[in-house]
Amino acid sequence: MKYGHFSPDSLEYIITSPLTPYPWINYLTNDRYCSIISQCAGGYSFYKDCRTNRVTRWLPENYNVDRPGKYLFIRDGKNAWSATYQPMREKPSAYACHHGLGYTTIKSTYYGVKSQISYFVPEDDDCEVWLASIENTTKKTKTLEIFPYVEFLIGDYHEELRYRNIMNLYNRVWFDKKQKAIFAKKTAQWQGMNIKPFSSLIFFASSLEPKGACTQKRSFLGRYNSEEKPEAVVDGNFKNFPLCSGEDSIGSFKHAVTLKPGQKVEFTVVLGQTEKVGAIKALLAKYKKVSFAKKELEKTKALWRKRILGNIEVKTPDNDFNTIVNVWLKYQMYVCNTWSRSPSFFHEGSGGRGYRDSCQDSESIVSINSDLTRQKILKLASLIRRDGTCAPGWSETVGPHKFLPNKDHQVWLTATVCAYIKETGDSGILQEKVSYIKDRWVGGWHENKNWKGPAQEDGTGTFLEHLEQNLSFCFSDTGARGFPLIGHADWNDAIDAAGIKHKGDSVWLAQALVRSLRMLVDLCEFIGEKEKTRKYCTMADEMDKRTNSKGWDGAWYSRGFDDQGQVYGSHKDKEGKIFLNTQAWAILSGVAKGERLKIVLKSVDKYLNGKHGLALFYPAFSSWVKRLGRISMFSEGTKENAAVFCHAATFMAVAYAMIGCGDKSYEAMKKIMPNAQKDMDLYKTEPYAYAEYLVGPQNPYRYGEGAFSWITGTAGWNFMCATEWLLGVRREYNGLRIDPSIPRHWKTCFVRRFFRGSTYEITIENPRGIEHGVVQVMLDGRELDGNLLPVFDDGKIHQVKAILG
Ligand code: GLC
Repeated sequence: MKYGHFSPDSLEYIITSPLTPYPWINYLTNDRYCSIISQCAGGYSFYKDCRTNRVTRWLPENYNVDRPGKYLFIRDGKNAWSATYQPMREKPSAYACHHGLGYTTIKSTYYGVKSQISYFVPEDDDCEVWLASIENTTKKTKTLEIFPYVEFLIGDYHEELRYRNIMNLYNRVWFDKKQKAIFAKKTAQWQGMNIKPFSSLIFFASSLEPKGACTQKRSFLGRYNSEEKPEAVVDGNFKNFPLCSGEDSIGSFKHAVTLKPGQKVEFTVVLGQTEKVGAIKALLAKYKKVSFAKKELEKTKALWRKRILGNIEVKTPDNDFNTIVNVWLKYQMYVCNTWSRSPSFFHEGSGGRGYRDSCQDSESIVSINSDLTRQKILKLASLIRRDGTCAPGWSETVGPHKFLPNKDHQVWLTATVCAYIKETGDSGILQEKVSYIKDRWVGGWHENKNWKGPAQEDGTGTFLEHLEQNLSFCFSDTGARGFPLIGHADWNDAIDAAGIKHKGDSVWLAQALVRSLRMLVDLCEFIGEKEKTRKYCTMADEMDKRTNSKGWDGAWYSRGFDDQGQVYGSHKDKEGKIFLNTQAWAILSGVAKGERLKIVLKSVDKYLNGKHGLALFYPAFSSWVKRLGRISMFSEGTKENAAVFCHAATFMAVAYAMIGCGDKSYEAMKKIMPNAQKDMDLYKTEPYAYAEYLVGPQNPYRYGEGAFSWITGTAGWNFMCATEWLLGVRREYNGLRIDPSIPRHWKTCFVRRFFRGSTYEITIENPRGIEHGVVQVMLDGRELDGNLLPVFDDGKIHQVKAILG
């Protein structure tokens, strides 16, 4: 593959050229501190929330230059360079970046000086560590100056974007002689008029003896200069500026080492932010010991390997599929579960976690880490109001989101909770008491203007009651056609004007509600709640009927009705005629049956399936459609305007597998699979992480380009699609179902899966080359009646053979 390749064990992606089409990044993170790093050490770091607590600087357009970053400048008297290629961009004689699970190692050689820096975030401390070694491979003794360097942001990223030069005036950065460290804070934490004490401290230190410390950006770089040619390095002009007050601030040190031929110096650099200010001294002392840092790096690697490798494993005839499912998809799911959608090189960095995204993330990770799902669903349930609506999300630093809630938030948690109970058998969670929340929003739309202060607790109810409230609200909050109102958006954030008058309703939301209601029905049946089973079944049937009468457009399901009652996503439209979501979810919800199902499949194929995957809708909007909103404002084929939106394309891949179309499901998955992309100069984003979308077919010249990689619901849904639907090893309340829908040319595949206390080693054989239909299951050498593996909970490994025929 151009620009790089996976290591033989697939646990690293090794980038061999610094000039990848876009920065190819990695997330180094525990659940509090995160460092994002590109193949050239570009990127930023944050603590707890990527909006409120940015440690280092990044701006939205910086992906174009991949700067600033986490740098080591080196000078050998004559020559000067940066060990990570950026920012000085001298040509290295050797270069490689190894993005691994929980670490990134960048190796380079310049002028016979070999350097290697491993960046990682230890599990237990609020910091990142750079473990560096610099070796003189020449035959002459070399005296080197080494300058670790970061550019601070300190505090709130959004305020920084608006008031950059005001924000600087709050900066307090200093070198502490005793601790030999640079500290940084703002006078107070500033978010508009919401001013709080700056209760944490940023720290930066190196284990080499500092010959000087500089905290002022302009002094280090020189007048009218950038980090590409910093005067302190290029001209050997480093000056000590231990204090930066109200200016653009950096952390930098000057070190000097003399290396004989073959000699190597090893050292560490530590950057972090913590509220445990009193513990910083001890933290620095620990990580300044190279031997300790080395052990921590190994510990971090081991931890990530355990998270990623100690669970589901698949073996299919497709190596790309195996690599992405066994390693990189799980890794991406962890990143999404930890940080949701804000911290990227592209997104707006608004911090916090969104409700719908978190529900889906926690559902998808349940089969590899159900404890994480448990924690998240309790949190998510506590964001439900008594009326059944939800706060739109929350941030670890500022609490529940305060903005107008979306109308689809109510439909997601049920699926996650059902998945959790099926995975673990822990139906006891349904009786746990969880608090309700009360804030300024009433009925999911109206604002209580007299509301003051933060959200409050509003009594408690059982977890099950929370879910019932959730879906009952959605069922009753409907428009003229009986579909749930769309408000200012549903799954599609960009259909944000169709329901602005609170009249437009959503066919997709009706389907999503049917799906969740049916899940609630099964759940109630499982726990023996007969009356509730009947009640929710009636509601699901009713919504299903409405969808099929008023949502059917002739050859597909329409997308919705605007505030004027006018349909969209219909044959009546010139643009935005047919949407993928209402076809995929017609299948996911079971709404499309018989002849209609066949017609839907034909329409999807005819209008939406292209060379680079399934488009979100067709045709793209060529101009602003006021009645629908932002969806029509993006340029054709970008983002929600008819891109190949990978999250939505995966809904359809799951839908195909559900109805036994293995070939189609596989095709839909393959087209968006990052490591299966043929032309990396076209695709551009990382080959080891899913993109949010591929530019769609109607874009004038970028069809097939990957965009907004890493933080997307695509990761979770792809993992579910691959393991639960395509390979068909699916949790149920009473066991593990084996029901694959695979491509015909897969003759044999294998899944190892841990499930409720036992391991199942499942071989799927497909002697007749079909897509779907298990005819025989052998369990531990005996034929099983049906295809539902029982729960053993015996700590043993069970051998399963499933034969399609
Ligand atoms: C983004 C959002 C997701 C939304 C999707 C479609 O991926 O994170 O919540 O559903 O866009 O608008």
